[in-house]
Amino acid sequence: MVPAEQLFAPLFQCIEGGEQHQRMPLVLGPDTPFRPYLEIAYALRSCLEQRARHDYLVQRLRPHVDVIIGTLPPGLQAHGLLPRSAPPADFRPLEQISDAALRAWLIEDGGMIYGELQQDELARYFAAIRPYVAPGGVMVDLGSGLGKVVLSAALSLPFQRCIGVELLGYRHRLAVQRSQHLLALARQELARLATQQPLSATTALLLPSGVHSTLSHLIELPSRIAFIEADMFRVELRGASLVFLYSTCFGPLMAALAHKLAGELQQGALVSTTTYPLQHPAFRLLQHFPAGTLAWTSVFLYQRYGDWDGAALDAAPSAYQPDPAEWEARLRAELAAR
Ligand SMILES: C[S@@+](CC[C@H](N)C(=O)[O-])C[C@H]1O[C@@H](n2cnc3c(N)ncnc32)[C@H](O)[C@@H]1O
Repeated sequence: MVPAEQLFAPLFQCIEGGEQHQRMPLVLGPDTPFRPYLEIAYALRSCLEQRARHDYLVQRLRPHVDVIIGTLPPGLQAHGLLPRSAPPADFRPLEQISDAALRAWLIEDGGMIYGELQQDELARYFAAIRPYVAPGGVMVDLGSGLGKVVLSAALSLPFQRCIGVELLGYRHRLAVQRSQHLLALARQELARLATQQPLSATTALLLPSGVHSTLSHLIELPSRIAFIEADMFRVELRGASLVFLYSTCFGPLMAALAHKLAGELQQGALVSTTTYPLQHPAFRLLQHFPAGTLAWTSVFLYQRYGDWDGAALDAAPSAYQPDPAEWEARLRAELAAR
């Protein structure tokens, strides 16, 4: 048996700190799929930068407070994803943007907020789901950011493959870099250990989640990790045995995600969400970990079960219902302070 704690500690250490990464603005090339996002972002920013248009900005945003995370949409803040360069001449002003398009923009923008669970939260999460995870399945993180959950899952549990799906190219590239760093460090740690004791693929290894495995778990790490740059709604999930969603900023997307997951996942597949439950008859709740027990926010674990005819369900009313008057007062104070 190898000393697992010593072996794993530097590996987990090297995937820490992603929250502090420098946000990269989107690039406004002719082929960017983010052109519609950027057009509305520029239209909103133009209103923000002209005091005389603040009333109009508030008036347009107010009907959508239930999908705005915080006060001013994150994409309009200094660290947002909007380039500083001037918009192309053919981009329309806010007056020509429909309410529906603006709402969709706010939902997309909120979903691109970045955050990671802490390593101790992830450790508790993997230990908690361990009884439900059969060796050899495929874990998928939808919205995988810099890859922390995918890499931690590959270290912690005996998945055959852990896959991250991330929309933003620069985050995807950072995840690939972090993965390469982790793999190099794992090779180094194994080489160092081999100088101290005889090792083989069948040497016993206790995984951080408490699962008994062998050293092949780490030797095969390179083939057990993959990252894809894609929109999660366009990725086929049929083979997944666990879908992880750090869904705290996906509130308005939950109904569409539940529909997709119900349509594509096999019976028995697991889904976990944070903050928002997965309200769909094709899923049964296995465990609910209230906020403050496993992580800072609620964590829900579901299993795909039973028949479902594929019919769309009515979207549940938004679980987030701020008081519009209170939100407006906060926004006006923020605008006045600019
Ligand atoms: C809160 S972060 C979570 C990152 C990672 N899952 C973790 O827990 O460390 C959510 C990520 O989802 C990504 N995202 C948002 N919408 C997406 C979409 N439609 N497809 C893929 N990724 C998306 C965001 O860019 C962001 O990196």
